[in-house]
Amino acid sequence: MSTNQYNRFTVTAALPYANGPKHIGHLAGAYIPSDVYVRYLRLSGKDVIYVCGSDEHGTAIPNQALKEQTTPQAIIDKYDALIRECFDKLGISFDIYHRTSEAIHHQTSQEFFLTLYNKGLLSEEVSEQYFDEEAKVFLADRYIVGTCPKCGHTNAYGDQCEKCGSTLSPRELINPRSTLSGKTPILKPTRHWYLPLEKYEPWLRDWILKSHQHDWKPNVFGQCKSWIEAGLQPRAMTRDLDWGIKVPLPGAEGKVLYVWFDAPIGYISATRALFDEITSGNRKYATPRSDFSKADKDDWKKYWQAKDTRLIHFIGKDNIVFHCIIFPVMLHTSEEFILPDNVPANEFMNLEGDKMSTSRGWSIEMHEYLADFPDKPDVLRYALLTNLPETKDSEFTWKDFQAKNNNELVAILGNFVNRAVVLTQKYFDSEIPARKELVDVDKKALADLKQYPTLIASSIEAFRFREATANLMDLARVGNKYLAETEPWKLAKTDMDRVGTILNIALQIAASLAIVSEPFLPFTSRKLKDMLGVGDWNWKEAGNPDLLNPGTKLREATLLFEKIEDAVIDSQIKKLMDTKRAVELAQQPAVPAKAEISFDDFSKMDIRIGKILKAERVEKSKKLLKLQVDTGLDVRTVMSGIAEHFTPEEVIGKQVTILVNLAPRKIMGVESQGMILMASDKDGSLKLLSPSTETAPGSQVS
Ligand code: 2FM
Ligand code: ZN
Repeated sequence: MSTNQYNRFTVTAALPYANGPKHIGHLAGAYIPSDVYVRYLRLSGKDVIYVCGSDEHGTAIPNQALKEQTTPQAIIDKYDALIRECFDKLGISFDIYHRTSEAIHHQTSQEFFLTLYNKGLLSEEVSEQYFDEEAKVFLADRYIVGTCPKCGHTNAYGDQCEKCGSTLSPRELINPRSTLSGKTPILKPTRHWYLPLEKYEPWLRDWILKSHQHDWKPNVFGQCKSWIEAGLQPRAMTRDLDWGIKVPLPGAEGKVLYVWFDAPIGYISATRALFDEITSGNRKYATPRSDFSKADKDDWKKYWQAKDTRLIHFIGKDNIVFHCIIFPVMLHTSEEFILPDNVPANEFMNLEGDKMSTSRGWSIEMHEYLADFPDKPDVLRYALLTNLPETKDSEFTWKDFQAKNNNELVAILGNFVNRAVVLTQKYFDSEIPARKELVDVDKKALADLKQYPTLIASSIEAFRFREATANLMDLARVGNKYLAETEPWKLAKTDMDRVGTILNIALQIAASLAIVSEPFLPFTSRKLKDMLGVGDWNWKEAGNPDLLNPGTKLREATLLFEKIEDAVIDSQIKKLMDTKRAVELAQQPAVPAKAEISFDDFSKMDIRIGKILKAERVEKSKKLLKLQVDTGLDVRTVMSGIAEHFTPEEVIGKQVTILVNLAPRKIMGVESQGMILMASDKDGSLKLLSPSTETAPGSQVS
């Protein structure tokens, strides 16, 4: 079916695991491209739903609970709330952001499983699987790590290697070990239900290799092809775990659905929840923007079962096999659902020369960006859009982020709009002037204006969002060039008709920019529409040279963007380095404990709070500072080996912890009368131990 024959669109974005904050690489992978696509479809008057939600099952969740010493429920509640809030602040315009822990999802997944089971499509098999004798659990998916047989990565999970993207099963791992106890597991028999993927190989060859050879992206098609050609294996759809959706069969106690069985069904249950919530008026997860006034509770079926619905999955490359092979086989065999028409998966976005990773502390988390740049969601959207990993891995750098803001958003788009509005304010008291006779340069600008919305639309429809974003900025360039060529500010004294014509055209370009920028820069588009004093337009109206009526008043000009200074960028780079270092240090083992001592041994030490009154370097010594410390008992001299870590100025006035009854000893000819206590970090750097609030010198430490 050709794209135009579809009557409605179901757009999904990968359900993020609610096991931690998500970073800007995730945004670049699935959420920003899908949001642009959906906003464009909505503006074009299409019937579209955009669904997502938190993926709250799988071993990733209890694994994190273990790390944070809390319950899986507390983990999903915490991270679902965080991720949901970030998406909202970044303008990701889901119709619903649901949760797979909700009852409707458990029910939908169990029904799906039973449909396949009752059709006899799932094979039941007993096989030997890894078991942790200490934790007394079978080690599925992320409960087990080992060396990847494909790339040699030593920390590959039991279901997937995050380094090379290969899908694995625990038995393939070299040197497997339990993430629960760190021990080498044993093999033990257990019973599970398998989806026999190999039976669908001919069908997959036909559906993907023949039908989607030309319309799927080469990276997606290539991965599917090599998967199919490597030979498909039966894949277990159940696990021995206590966190997840119960297998709805008698005798299956202690077994849950595989997270990759239930998670994609999450798109369907989110759609069901959307229509339940809209029709009952009882909104919990459906966002306010979802307006399907004449909806019926069962309308979700149209979006998943009607052949004239176009289903598109936006994902990152590590999810390709699940969305192109496993889930489609489930949809196909159920005989109830439509298949994805396209899966425009992106590659990965690296950060400052290295792979982005929250656990390694090398990432920019969405919530951290928003905390540091609360009024700049569009700047991040733009920096990511211009750099999406559409065909190969890409790279985010803070310098590029700054350049995109300063050299493009501020200098081109912002500058053009500002000049058009401010000049109208100046020469026409903010009233939109009329166009008079047109000369060639005007006609050229209007002709360019007309063609850009089509150009942008066709890039979006082809999932080429980088190109679409470049086209958007090019339209602003058209406006800038037009003002630079016509120089209305030089004509104000001699030819106000001409000034009026030029500003009318410039403002019409700004009006179209307000429309076509909406999918990319929704907050900026809103500001621009407010400035031009207009409501919401449809995409079809973009390019129209008469969007704005002469005589209408513009609102006060406000700046769309502001310059980002070097200091701001430098501090982000420093923050990144500091976080990475802190994570690396935290992961290093602590120095082993010393031999036990008695309480009497300890109580012999007289430790006090002191204050450093004076500090000076010691001649011929790199290491020593000579300190004068107020101990509350007296003021005494202490020779301290901290000169390589602190300057004298840095320590003067600081409160410290001091051992006051250490026998005096001569150091470099000076008697040292005590010892300042220090924390020695894992990298050898020294930290002063100061009380948390000002404390009287002489206070005892015990
Ligand atoms: O990779 C992930 O983060 C998965 N939670 C994506 C799931 S997508 C879908 F199938 F739900
Ligand atoms: Zn690998």
